Amino acid sequence: MRITKFAIPEILFGRGSMAHVGACAAALGGETVFLVSDPGLAQAGWLDVVRGHLAQAGLTCVEFLQVQPNPRDCQVHAGAALYRESGADVIVAVGGGSPMDTAKGIGILVSNGGNIAEYEGANRVTHPLPPMLFMPTTAGSGSDLSQFAIITDVQRKLKMSLISRSLIPNISIIDPDFLQSAGRGLLVDSCIDALAHAVESFISTAASPFTETQARLALRLWNEHAERGCFAGEPAALEGLCLASAAASMSFSNASLGVGHALAHAFGGRFDMPHGGMHAILLPVVLRFNASHSPAKTAEILGLLFPDHSFAGPAAVEQGIALLYERFSTLGAPVRLGAVLPPQAKEQLPELCQAAVKDACMLTNPRPAGAEQLLEICQEAW
Ligand SMILES: [Fe+2]
Repeated sequence: MRITKFAIPEILFGRGSMAHVGACAAALGGETVFLVSDPGLAQAGWLDVVRGHLAQAGLTCVEFLQVQPNPRDCQVHAGAALYRESGADVIVAVGGGSPMDTAKGIGILVSNGGNIAEYEGANRVTHPLPPMLFMPTTAGSGSDLSQFAIITDVQRKLKMSLISRSLIPNISIIDPDFLQSAGRGLLVDSCIDALAHAVESFISTAASPFTETQARLALRLWNEHAERGCFAGEPAALEGLCLASAAASMSFSNASLGVGHALAHAFGGRFDMPHGGMHAILLPVVLRFNASHSPAKTAEILGLLFPDHSFAGPAAVEQGIALLYERFSTLGAPVRLGAVLPPQAKEQLPELCQAAVKDACMLTNPRPAGAEQLLEICQEAW
């Protein structure tokens, strides 16, 4: 077996675990917290809860709450400027992938300087970041456990993948109660992202026994809890989805992803689309594209998602892909590119694929692919 590594933060998991945020931030040496979040979480009342726990531990708070979905480079720069003025000594991010990725970008700039675009790609961060504690409020992005940050370069209209061991926070507090206030659309969008993380990292060329174990767990839990979590909001199912997302994140953070995420980053940067929804469109086609290069794993993935069927052989894979489309449609997710993009976007596909081919996620896709193959995937998904 080749040498592998597996890195994750300290994890607190379970309903009510958010109450420990103050003690955990203090244990990281923090006295002044730099709180990163978004207006939706403030409105839902969650930030008041977090502020209360921080105050109880004797911590003061400086807040940066202007984070938008698909976080922009300019927001990261504004946040870093505020952090430098604030005298903060620990970063706490509360939210989905956007506040957490913004917090990582701020951490990079305050300890490494320069422009965030300088850190695009793998292993470009040289100096350690300030202590970071993340509290995910969706079950999908996995940014609270991962080495990835995805930031939109506004001028180039693309999403940059920043990958570094330094981007793993010190502590992740995963409290499924946060999901109680998430709407169905957000639950569906984020849990399909988690599924894509499990699938793409499972077939990644960098997968190892450590990551494969987590990916299998994620697929099994996703199958058990997706519908009951998204439609009924059952606390046990939401907890299962949080666990699925965490397992998928442990897998992708260490094994990376593939063509689906490379394309989703290109589309998200150009059209400002919700990230998770892109995978309902791309994942079935991505599975078909890679099936010839990872036949056993493709059959295993489909078997974990549809345990009543067997999926050996190309015809059975096609049947599994049809079932996957059906399942995404039942969850209410659009499954064709043409349903979410204007007709004129079709002309931009070749250019988008040229951008996607440079994404770091391309490096670990099991089947080698260039811009031409990515274009075929997009046309098939249209
Ligand atoms: Fe993702």
